[in-house]
Amino acid sequence: MPGGDYVGSDVCSECHEEKFEQILPSKHAQMNDLRAPFAREGCESCHGRGESHAMSEGESMDGIIVFGPDSPVAPRQQNAQCLDCHQDTERMFWQGSPHDSADLVCSSCHLIHQPDGVLRKTREVEVCVTCHTAVRAQLYKASAHPIRHGQITCTDCHGPHGTAGPRSLKRLTLNQQCYRCHAEKRGPFLWEHEPVSEACNACHYPHGSNYPALLVRRAPMLCQQCHQVTGGSHAGHINEKYDWAGGHTRFLVGASCLNCHSKVHGSNHPSGAALAR
Ligand code: HEC
Ligand code: HEC
Ligand code: HEC
Ligand code: HEC
Ligand code: HEC
Ligand code: HEC
Ligand code: HEC
Ligand code: HEC
Ligand code: HEC
Ligand code: HEC
Repeated sequence: MPGGDYVGSDVCSECHEEKFEQILPSKHAQMNDLRAPFAREGCESCHGRGESHAMSEGESMDGIIVFGPDSPVAPRQQNAQCLDCHQDTERMFWQGSPHDSADLVCSSCHLIHQPDGVLRKTREVEVCVTCHTAVRAQLYKASAHPIRHGQITCTDCHGPHGTAGPRSLKRLTLNQQCYRCHAEKRGPFLWEHEPVSEACNACHYPHGSNYPALLVRRAPMLCQQCHQVTGGSHAGHINEKYDWAGGHTRFLVGASCLNCHSKVHGSNHPSGAALAR
C-alpha cells in the first residue's frame, strides 16, 4: 500500500488540529453515517494512507493525496478519491464533461474543511463567475436573467458535473430547458413560428444582452436574418405603402415588424396566420 498503513484521524490531528476542528461539523465527519469518511478511514478516506507521512513528521508525502488545483497530484487521481463514494447518478456524466476535460478538480468548487460556498444558492454564482468572466460580464448587461442576485442560479440550467444535454444543460435540449420556467412558450399553437419550437437561441441569449428581452439583435434586423422581406411580391406586404426595398422605411426604422407581428412566439387566434394577433 503506498504510504504504508492506516493510522487514523487521531494521529493526523496531532499535527493538523485545525483541519480536524474545521471538518467536524460537516457531513463527512458524521460517524453515525456509515457511508461517511469518519465512519471509515477518517482523514485517510480522502487523503490516502498516512503512515509514512506521519512517521516522517510530514517530511515524506508518500501516499498522501494533496487536493486543489495547484497540487502535484494529477486531477484525475484527486477526483478518483471523491468519486470512490460519489460516483452516483448525479455524477453519471462527470467523465468527459467540459469540467472533467478541462482538468477541474472537485475542490475547484467544493471546500471540505470550510463551509462549502458553492452549495449555497446565494454564493454559487460567485464561484462560477470567478472562472467564467465572459458570462459575468453578460450578467451586467441591460437585459439579463435575474442571476446576479441569486433569484435564479447557474445550476437552474446547468449541471456542474456534466449532463446528457448540450452545453451541460440539465434538460436534453435547449428549448426544454427554457420551457421549464417559460412553459407558456411551448404551445401547442394553432400557428407556430418555426424557429420558436426549434431554438429559442435563434433570437435570445441565455445570460444577458444589450437589447431588450435578451434578444440577439433588435427587430427588424432580428427578423431579417431569416426573412428577406422584399418589394411587392412579398405576400403580406403588397400594399405599396410598405416598400421594403427602401422607399418608405417608416415601417422598418423606428417601428418594427413586431408592431404588426406581435405574436412572435405563436398564435392561437383563428386568423393569426401571420402571427399578427
Ligand atoms: C507528526 C506531524 C504530522 C502528522 C502526524 C501528520 N502530518 Fe500531515 N503534514 C505535516 C507537516 C509538517 C506537513 C507539511 C507542512 C504543512 O503544509 O503543513 C504536512 C502536510 C500535509 C498535507 C499537505 C498540505 C499542503 O498544503 O500541501 C496533507 C494533506 C497532510 N499533511 C495530511 C495528513 C494526514 C491525512 C495525516 C494523517 C494520516 C497527517 N497529515 C499526519 C505533519 C504531520
Ligand atoms: C472528504 C474528504 C476529506 C477528508 C475526510 C479530509 N480532508 Fe483534508 N482536504 C480535503 C480537500 C478537498 C482539501 C483541499 C482544501 C479544502 O477543500 O478545504 C483538503 C485539505 C487539507 C490539508 C491542506 C490544507 C491546505 O490548506 O491545503 C490538510 C493538512 C488536510 N486537508 C488535512 C486533513 C486532516 C488532518 C483530516 C482529518 C481530520 C482531513 N484532512 C480530512 C479533503 C478531505
Ligand atoms: C468515504 C466516502 C466519501 C468520500 C471519500 C468523500 N465523500 Fe463527500 N460525502 C460522503 C457522504 C456520506 C456525504 C453525505 C451525503 C448525504 O448526506 O446525502 C457526503 C457529502 C458530500 C457533499 C455534500 C455536502 C453537504 O453539506 O451537503 C459534497 C459537496 C461532497 N461530499 C464532496 C466530496 C468531495 C469533493 C470529496 C473528495 C475530496 C468527497 N466528498 C469524498 C462520503 C464521501
Ligand atoms: C464547477 C463546480 C463544481 C465542480 C468542479 C464539482 N462540483 Fe459538485 N456541486 C457543484 C454545485 C454547484 C453543486 C450544487 C448544485 C447541484 O448539484 O446542481 C454540487 C453538488 C455536489 C454534491 C451534493 C449534491 C449531490 O449532487 O449529490 C456532491 C456530493 C458533489 N457536488 C460532489 C462532487 C464531486 C465528487 C466532484 C468531483 C468529481 C464535484 N462535485 C465537482 C459544483 C461543482
Ligand atoms: C476553476 C474554474 C471554473 C469554475 C469555478 C467553473 N467553471 Fe465552468 N468551465 C471551466 C472550464 C475551463 C470549462 C471548459 C472551457 C470552456 O468552455 O470555457 C468550463 C465549461 C463550462 C460549461 C460548458 C461550456 C460549453 O461550451 O459546453 C458550462 C455550462 C460551465 N462551465 C458552467 C459552470 C458553472 C455553472 C459553474 C459553477 C457551478 C462553473 N462552470 C464553474 C472552468 C470553471
Ligand atoms: C436560464 C438558463 C441559464 C442560466 C441560468 C445560465 N445559463 Fe449558461 N447557458 C445557457 C444556455 C441555453 C447556453 C447555450 C447557449 C447557446 O448555445 O446558444 C449557455 C451557455 C453557457 C456557457 C457556454 C459558453 C457561452 O457563453 O455560450 C457557459 C460557460 C455558461 N453557460 C455558464 C453559465 C454560468 C457560469 C451561469 C451562472 C452565472 C450560467 N451559465 C447561467 C443557459 C443558462
Ligand atoms: C429557472 C427558471 C428559468 C429558466 C430555466 C429560464 N428562464 Fe427566462 N426568465 C426567468 C425569470 C425569473 C425571468 C425574469 C422575468 C420574470 O420575472 O418573468 C426570465 C426572463 C426571461 C426573458 C425576458 C427578459 C427581459 O429582460 O425582459 C426572456 C427573453 C427569457 N427569460 C428567455 C429564456 C430563455 C430563452 C430560456 C432558455 C435558454 C430561459 N429563459 C430559461 C426564469 C427562467
Ligand atoms: C423569432 C425570434 C424569437 C424566438 C425564436 C423566440 N423568441 Fe422570445 N421573444 C422574441 C421577441 C422579439 C421578444 C420581445 C417582444 C415581445 O415581448 O414579444 C421576445 C420575448 C420573450 C420573453 C419575454 C416577454 C414574454 O413574452 O414573456 C420571453 C420569456 C421569451 N421571449 C421566451 C422565449 C422562449 C422560451 C423561446 C423558445 C421557446 C423564445 N422566446 C423564442 C423573439 C423570439
Ligand atoms: C431563425 C430564423 C427566423 C427568425 C430570426 C425569424 N423567423 Fe419568422 N419564420 C421563420 C421560418 C422558418 C418560418 C416558416 C417558414 C416561412 O414561412 O418562411 C417563419 C415564419 C414567419 C411568419 C409567417 C407565419 C406563417 O404562419 O406563415 C411570420 C409573420 C414571421 N415569421 C415573422 C417573423 C418576425 C416578426 C420575426 C422577428 C421578430 C421573425 N419572423 C424572425 C424563421 C425565422
Ligand atoms: C404594418 C404591418 C406590418 C409590418 C410592420 C410588417 N408586416 Fe409582415 N405582414 C403583415 C401582414 C398584414 C401580412 C400578411 C397577412 C396575410 O397574408 O395573411 C404579413 C405577412 C408576413 C409574413 C408571411 C409572408 C408569407 O409569405 O406568408 C412574413 C414572413 C412577414 N410578414 C414578415 C415581416 C417582417 C420580417 C417584418 C419586419 C421587417 C414585417 N413582416 C413587418 C403586416 C406587417
